[in-house]
Amino acid sequence: MIGTDFVPSAYSNSVAKGKITWKSPSNIALVKYWGKKENQIPANPSVSFTLDTCATTTTVTYRKLEEEGKDYSFDLFFEGEPKESFRPKILTFFKRVEHYLPFLKSYHFTIDTSNSFPHSSGIASSASGMSALALCLMSIEKELQPEMDPGHFNRKASFLARLGSGSACRSIEGDLMQWGLHKDTQGSSNEYAIKYPFPVHDVFKNYQDTILLVDKGQKQVSSTVGHDLMHGHPFAEQRFLQAHANLTKLQDVFAQGDLNGFIEIVESEALTLHAMMMTSLPYFILMKPHTLEIINKIWAFRERTNTHVCFTLDAGANVHVLYPESEQEIVYQFIKNELVAYCENGQYICDTIGYGAKKM
Ligand code: DP6
Repeated sequence: MIGTDFVPSAYSNSVAKGKITWKSPSNIALVKYWGKKENQIPANPSVSFTLDTCATTTTVTYRKLEEEGKDYSFDLFFEGEPKESFRPKILTFFKRVEHYLPFLKSYHFTIDTSNSFPHSSGIASSASGMSALALCLMSIEKELQPEMDPGHFNRKASFLARLGSGSACRSIEGDLMQWGLHKDTQGSSNEYAIKYPFPVHDVFKNYQDTILLVDKGQKQVSSTVGHDLMHGHPFAEQRFLQAHANLTKLQDVFAQGDLNGFIEIVESEALTLHAMMMTSLPYFILMKPHTLEIINKIWAFRERTNTHVCFTLDAGANVHVLYPESEQEIVYQFIKNELVAYCENGQYICDTIGYGAKKM
């Protein structure tokens, strides 16, 4: 059975109550996860930069119940206010992870969560949110099993986060994370993400990501629906092969500091993700006119200045502008002068590559 390594042996400790806080970042995929099988198994491997500024902070207060409940017992708060609309998502998550966290029905939990990025900015909070919650639950398990080693802690946190939201498994550590079985990556797994195990040139250190908020509206297609569209998609098999090949190509690109090679793979991945949505049934166009304006401006600026700015996209209209730290000044001027005008209410977020979640 999948995940047997993560079923704990009997707990050696007993804990009546406690409180734990984790701050966990979002991440931006360079090779995209798009398409999944049962139990949150990805259809193809992916790799991402962990972010720093965009993060969720979650505090879980827990109290042992007199006797184990029939159901899960928890209260939810978002930015200090009760948030019942999160309940179904958390319930689904608890159901998926209970086999691996047998203490879940023995406690009452108060889950208090807040995001560093503006509410409904169109930025996915599932990666940071689910990883923060998974880490809080792991910290509770560590109280119950103090001998747990840190490697196991991180792997299982990633494993649990994945069951909440696939991309969340790449948010536990940083700065580059790989998830999904890949023949050219020893140690890779469909069940959890690993730190990128190959050499990475210094030019990729502190890489910058300025997120342009083009459309802050509700997502037109939820990721669940989006992933589903890859079942029976006419180009799915080719796409999955392409993701494998791109991961292999990236190994040289990262090692050599080949920025042009990087740009080619990253932009192609972003456009392929959107091409998959445009060619599925039903079909969707998730880019907005301003998304395309920004892409064209980036291409013109890159040509004109010989810089290495490029873009990537999630399953939405917002644009992630990626560039090396050494080009920060000139690219940031360009963003302010030429791109911010395309953002909804002029809003954007300056982020940089980060090193994973932190216990507070
Ligand atoms: C386009 O991780 O949000 O951002 O597993 O259904 O929660 P679920 O999907 P999710 O999908 C993210 C898709 C993506 C690409 C990526 O992050 O790799």
